[in-house]
Amino acid sequence: MTDLAHLSTTLEQAIAGAKDEAALDTVRVSALGKKGSVSALLATLGAMTPDERKERGPAINGLKTHIATLIETRRTALRAEALEQRLVAEKLDVTLPLRPAPAAMGRIHPVSQVIDEIAAIFSDMGFSIAEGPDIETDYYNFTALNFPEGHPAREMHDTFFFNPGPDGARKLLRTHTSPVQIRTMEKTEPPIRVVMPGRTYRNDSDQTHTPMFHQVEGLVIDKSSHIGQLRWVLEEFLKAFFEVESVTLRFRPSFFPFTEPSMEVDVQCDRSGNEVRIGQGEDWLEILGCGMVHPNVIRAGGLDPEIYQGFAWGMGIDRIAMLKYGMPDLRAFFDADKRWIDHYGFRPFDLPTLFGGLSS
Ligand code: DAH
Repeated sequence: MTDLAHLSTTLEQAIAGAKDEAALDTVRVSALGKKGSVSALLATLGAMTPDERKERGPAINGLKTHIATLIETRRTALRAEALEQRLVAEKLDVTLPLRPAPAAMGRIHPVSQVIDEIAAIFSDMGFSIAEGPDIETDYYNFTALNFPEGHPAREMHDTFFFNPGPDGARKLLRTHTSPVQIRTMEKTEPPIRVVMPGRTYRNDSDQTHTPMFHQVEGLVIDKSSHIGQLRWVLEEFLKAFFEVESVTLRFRPSFFPFTEPSMEVDVQCDRSGNEVRIGQGEDWLEILGCGMVHPNVIRAGGLDPEIYQGFAWGMGIDRIAMLKYGMPDLRAFFDADKRWIDHYGFRPFDLPTLFGGLSS
């Protein structure tokens, strides 16, 4: 028996000492595998006398069962241990504060945000969005918009001209978004309902003027478009944009070569406090220019003014952004100062929609 007892002790120690399942398996093969120590003992039974077998058989088989049971018990323990270790190693502390993703740390410039707001409001009214080039020809910026050759209105715009090209013509940086009216009429079959935001340029710089600024142009052309619709569109836009229940508008006669009649629009406001409040108070603030599109402009757009008529308006985007979000100095818009954009900028996924609230 001492040989069996000795073998049993050796295997028990090996099983207890197996650090992982692979080591345990090595022990199993060395004992119970084809050439294992316990299997070798079992093989000796065949050559024994019946009496010998009667005595040794149960002992050897008992050892085999004992070792097999120990191995299985150890295997279960090793698995539980391994799982425990994984759980500790892979632990995730969900109470840690979230670090914002890099994309969420960027900021949307107020001008971009306001352009998105304008697009959301006018899309809701059935308008589409159009754009035109920043570098324009004299024709689109002036002539097609009914500015007569040599007319002082051309000078009023403080135009940035490029050097003359081979044909002698000077291109320019567009001084307003109105040329997009012509480009749109040229390629769109009426009815036309379109807003055209973009960059514009004039040689001017102070607290409320920068050489590059933004405008949004609006154009409606149909067979019976009229000034009452113009007024409704502007009122609805200004209410939605300034997020107020009502606005009062004042239409003053004015002059633009591309509209007849032409008007400037003031919006009722209150300047008594620190900020300008739209939709209340005793004051007026000039906010846009508009009018009925001049027949010459409709003709320049390739349409027949005997059939079509319409209205247009133009508005400074930076200015209404300053008013809505309380930014005092326009020049800071384009200084690329990170502190400014961190303060006045918008979160990247705060897309303005009418149903979600424009600025909330
Ligand atoms: N283009 C004009 C400007 O820059 C603004 C303007 C006035 C546009 C009247 C219009 C309009 O479409 O009808 O001062």
